[in-house]
Amino acid sequence: MSRPIILGIVGDSAAGKTTLTRGIAQVLGPENVTLICTDDYHRYDRQQRAEIGITALHPDCNYLDVMQQHLSLLRTGQPILKPVYSHKTGTFEPPQYIKPNKFVIIEGLLGYSTRAARNAYDVKVYLAPPEPLRAKWKVKRDTQKRGYSTEQVLAELEKREPDSEQFIRPQRQWSDIVVSFYPSTEESDETNGHLNVRLVLRPTIPHPDFTPIINLTNGNSDSAIRLGLDRDMNKPVDVLEVDGHASLEQVNKLEHIMCSDMPYLRNICDRESNPELGKIAGTTGETIQSYPLALTQLIVTYHMLKATQIYQ
Ligand code: G6P
Repeated sequence: MSRPIILGIVGDSAAGKTTLTRGIAQVLGPENVTLICTDDYHRYDRQQRAEIGITALHPDCNYLDVMQQHLSLLRTGQPILKPVYSHKTGTFEPPQYIKPNKFVIIEGLLGYSTRAARNAYDVKVYLAPPEPLRAKWKVKRDTQKRGYSTEQVLAELEKREPDSEQFIRPQRQWSDIVVSFYPSTEESDETNGHLNVRLVLRPTIPHPDFTPIINLTNGNSDSAIRLGLDRDMNKPVDVLEVDGHASLEQVNKLEHIMCSDMPYLRNICDRESNPELGKIAGTTGETIQSYPLALTQLIVTYHMLKATQIYQ
């Protein structure tokens, strides 16, 4: 019997979760995807949080047990009555009836914090941009879209840091892929569209065989696309890096590797028959418009499709 394939996108506030989520949904076809944001499982509204003195990042501030139950239901294709938190008003709205599509993407702050929740995902992504970049993104988003001043956002970041350290960042260890977009130099600005990406690939899921990359670059560390071995949270991992200035030719080679056993992706990557491809990053990435983003979306999509072959 077929069941929905579940993708987790976890990371701290303004780490790029929604941008990546929307991009992947675009690649998979929005009509095939159910999007869930776990902010909806906040236990307290904004005013209550302020009164109690608790941040949204604390597990006690969220109905993680209900979130976990809902994940299990979605995984078996059953509907849920999901709470709704409004970022606009900071209060709750009437719950929403949600029936899962073929793919479900769950994005949020604490998605991997319990074992039962972790077991619900087929693919687990953790977003880990450098903290200065995340702070910039948070200031930008919260001042432009959530009505906060820069000073308020910076104060909030400082207030939340202990919870980020204790509850958010340790979840990195449970992910299959750690995604870190980063500027090529300390000075460069993310708005120039040249962010690089560093992908930590844990051996917890079957990754495409990227070793031809090594042959392509002859182990040249100056190449715009690099594959190497490293350790992450004390475990051995592969690391794939793609620079923002990678050429279309280099990107094509990487796409070719991913598409070789995936006809669906091959269609998506075919620029001639699919002129929309260039827009995959463009339409979704308000702040990261680049090949690194498009390739990250493709790699995660690859795993979603792979999961449909393995588990269905
Ligand atoms: C962080 C998260 C939000 C979460 C919010 C609650 O910023 O990224 O998604 O819901 O904290 O804070 P709020 O500004 O809505 O009171």
